[in-house]
Amino acid sequence: MDRLASLAPALRAAARRHGTPLYVTDGAALDAAADAVRAAFPDPWLRAYSLKANDLPALVARVAAHGFGANVVSRGEWSLARRAGLPNAAITLEGIGKTDADLRAAARAAAAGEPLRWVAVESADEAAALARAVERVRAGARGAGEPLRVDALVRLNPAVEPETHAGLATGGRASKFGVGADEVGAVVEAGGGADGPIRWRGIHVHVGSQLGAVDAWRDAVRRALALLALLRGGLPDFDTLDVGGGMPVLPWRPADDGEAAVVAGRRGAFAFDDDPRASGGPAIPGPARFAAEVPALLEGIPPDRRPRRLAVEPGRALVGASGWLVARVLHVRERTVPPGPAPVQRSGAHGLAVVPPGAATDDRTRRLVVVDAGMTELVRPALYGAEHAVVALTSLGRAPRPDATARPARVDGPICESTDALGEHLLPPLRRGDLVAIADAGAYAASMRSTYNGRPRPAEVIVEPDGRLALARRRGSLASLA
Ligand SMILES: Cc1ncc(COP(=O)(O)O)c(C=O)c1O
Repeated sequence: MDRLASLAPALRAAARRHGTPLYVTDGAALDAAADAVRAAFPDPWLRAYSLKANDLPALVARVAAHGFGANVVSRGEWSLARRAGLPNAAITLEGIGKTDADLRAAARAAAAGEPLRWVAVESADEAAALARAVERVRAGARGAGEPLRVDALVRLNPAVEPETHAGLATGGRASKFGVGADEVGAVVEAGGGADGPIRWRGIHVHVGSQLGAVDAWRDAVRRALALLALLRGGLPDFDTLDVGGGMPVLPWRPADDGEAAVVAGRRGAFAFDDDPRASGGPAIPGPARFAAEVPALLEGIPPDRRPRRLAVEPGRALVGASGWLVARVLHVRERTVPPGPAPVQRSGAHGLAVVPPGAATDDRTRRLVVVDAGMTELVRPALYGAEHAVVALTSLGRAPRPDATARPARVDGPICESTDALGEHLLPPLRRGDLVAIADAGAYAASMRSTYNGRPRPAEVIVEPDGRLALARRRGSLASLA
């Protein structure tokens, strides 16, 4: 049975108990995803969950229980990882926007004997700032004579063309992320060279998110390995390669046979291609497909120049598919409109590109449905045209009948922006008060929410495998907006 069909009663119960909009994580699905990624990247791989995908501490702790550390981009995410119970030794700090306060905190943690696993450095400026922070903390510490060093990687811009939406690509030459291979030496020097306050440990690379193929990723890892091999000669501790995240989720789609009226669907519109020899077909590479590339790439490097530590930092692949955003219908309106625009080319595997209103049918009568979740809870459609399936959890106040007729409906959010649109979906009869579920809302949804239009943050609930509902974050109060 489709997972949503069995989850639907819990989603309805959660909405009754905690109100809408509501983020719900399917705990069993999350556990399965974490196990799959771990199986693809087993020990001695260092696995760090990238908190930017979803920073809910209960969820971070749950992922950690499957053998993951954390990858954070700010002191805020760092504190959430700590709240989830992770020690600094299992936490890496990266990100394009590290402040002096972030770098100072990393230096202080090292001085306190609880260093982060490493800091990934984005530029020569940042290397110099980190080196200064370490020197200052060392000078101010008791026993100031002690050498204090912070482990760091250099973030490489691999200059590849990632097979994903432009808004999710980070590995292109023109992107703001990382430094070119020819700049890495200058970064090391700016951070004090081989014996300075920074202990240079290796290379960090991240190509982009929801990657539709492994080719750019493979090129990026090959380039990073070559650079690492080159620098290892002069930097005795340069022994680590972090290959970033980027592994995709299979977009959830309603069943094709009209069962969209009831809660049924599948992830099978696309399949994971976990066989490195298979080619062609509408397949998305699963985590094992990425991992399978690595041995051959290592073979190309002399044994004494290979990294001793390999690390991976997925986000979406761990939490994306297990999250549902539950919303309540506010309005249903019928309107006669001019013929719609030609359907857009869907970007297939990436699950991106919203079907423009009117594209899904020649019927000029439009059903316009406004729900109480929108770009403030799930900004991806407005931000880069991401598609998220919408299905009915109730129809006219009850669980949808299997024989209910599904008709296209344009689903919009409640925010005062025209881009606050969730696309066109086949839905059964709906009225104010009915519940819908928005799929694939586990990653880059709650962590990207905003309070625009004076909207407090929604509650977040985890459905345990036994059906129990665990409240993981309370709904924000009106007072919290002040
Ligand atoms: C440096 C870095 N690592 C890891 C990730 C996680 O990526 P994903 O969620 O695609 O696995 C990101 C996401 O943007 C990132 O920027």
